[in-house]
Amino acid sequence: MRHVVFLGGPNLDRLGEREPEKYGTTSWSELETMCETWAARAGCRVTFLQTNSEGELVEWIGHWSRQADSIVLNAAAYTHTSVAVRDAVAAAAAPVIELHLTNPDSREAFRRTNLLADVVAAGVRGFGIQGYRLALDGALALCASADESD
Ligand code: DQA
Repeated sequence: MRHVVFLGGPNLDRLGEREPEKYGTTSWSELETMCETWAARAGCRVTFLQTNSEGELVEWIGHWSRQADSIVLNAAAYTHTSVAVRDAVAAAAAPVIELHLTNPDSREAFRRTNLLADVVAAGVRGFGIQGYRLALDGALALCASADESD
């Protein structure tokens, strides 16, 4: 069974109460339940983790990229600042899909700095919570096309 790991970076634990006009009113734990439902329908397994710590995120990317078929990463603010997260993604053993609830390019100028864009396999941005469903579909599609080219 395919295994997709969702990793969330800083402040995503406050989803639902954090700037709801931008990020919506669904909490991180509600989002986890939604992803589990979508995964069950698609016949795959998901792991859902969030941390506010840059080091932990780096360790998780290294660990889960060896254990799972794909990682869906919302690195949140570390997208714009972290060479360490970028290096972990560049070295990942499985494809990493970058996800943002909002479209960072249409926000403040500093969010246009993206240290991950050229090291990820694909990206989903600006679809809000539904982006997680799209990213799961995308992760499974990447796995299927990798199988075909074997
Ligand atoms: C975010 C966008 C980032 O710029 C921001 O720092 C976040 C959330 C998003 O999902 O839209 O924390 O990654």
